Amino acid sequence: MKGMITAKSLVKAFGDFRAVDGVDLEIRPGECFGLLGPNGAGKSTFIGMTYGIVQRTAGDITVFGFDPGTQSREIKRRLGVVTQDNALDDSLTVHENMMIYAAFIGLPTGERKARIDELLGYMNLAHKKDAPIRTLSGGMKRRLVFVRALLGRPELLILDEPTTGLDPAVRHLLWGKVKELRQAGTTIVLTTHYMHEAEVLCDRLVVFNGGKVVAEGTPRGLIEKHAPGFVGIFGAADGGKVRALAEGRGDLHLHEDTSGVYARVADLAELTRFYTEHGLAPLQIRPSNLEDVFLQLTGKELSADA
Ligand SMILES: Nc1ncnc2c1ncn2[C@@H]1O[C@H](COP(=O)(O)OP(=O)(O)OP(=O)(O)O)[C@@H](O)[C@H]1O
Ligand SMILES: [Mg+2]
Repeated sequence: MKGMITAKSLVKAFGDFRAVDGVDLEIRPGECFGLLGPNGAGKSTFIGMTYGIVQRTAGDITVFGFDPGTQSREIKRRLGVVTQDNALDDSLTVHENMMIYAAFIGLPTGERKARIDELLGYMNLAHKKDAPIRTLSGGMKRRLVFVRALLGRPELLILDEPTTGLDPAVRHLLWGKVKELRQAGTTIVLTTHYMHEAEVLCDRLVVFNGGKVVAEGTPRGLIEKHAPGFVGIFGAADGGKVRALAEGRGDLHLHEDTSGVYARVADLAELTRFYTEHGLAPLQIRPSNLEDVFLQLTGKELSADA
């Protein structure tokens, strides 16, 4: 089968502004595919175009071989979405809410109750079955949105920032579920601002910036290509000196934020030599990760259009 989702020169414009600006990508059956990128990069707009809630301006996109512009019914039948905002009806109970949705997606009447109970159990929400939505915590609502997305046994699961605002325990619970679903053959598309989450879950990913794909690969491949090596993080006391020393050195990549100055070099021995020779005391030494890739590719414009 060709791509589960195939986009070619895909564009979404709002007036003169192109939120998605000529995107080519192919998401393969069975993989967990990540969409990374700063606020406003175009991730949710891209996702909206996969199931027809956002109409494209130009280019092509197919999902299961269907055109979401004209065949969104066929697509929605086989896809589940955890939207960025929960969009649950506060006035109903958990069970009522799921029953309405089960009817909406056409789940056979006789199966609805059992399927809802099964999924509430799966997401550790069985005890909340008769609770009004407004009494649930943020983490419970997020898990309930997963239940909703899974009701129709989707082949393709789209997760738009599934773990934003969740505590580490709930986040790990959801990571476990995503891995299980992926192992059972579900194709997963995920957006996240947590680089560690992308590293843990994604087989491949793209980085969006300003509506364009600026990098594509496996987490490891992207790290090797865009930010290989080791990073030393230096505090205020050493920051100025590190900056001055980095001036004439093409092999030392610097990044700064409020927590310190980050100096990356290709190998650990070289990093060690650098700080011992100059009497510097790094706060932390670590292998480079996707966060370094992200900042390298998008850092300069991070807050431009957020
Ligand atoms: N309906 C709309 N009308 C006008 N502009 C829009 C509309 N929807 C999105 N945009 C703009 O398109 C750009 C991309 O938005 P989008 O929601 O796709 O970003 P995102 O990558 O999902 O960001 P975030 O990480 O904050 O969720 C933003 O500048 C946003 O303001
Ligand atoms: Mg978004």
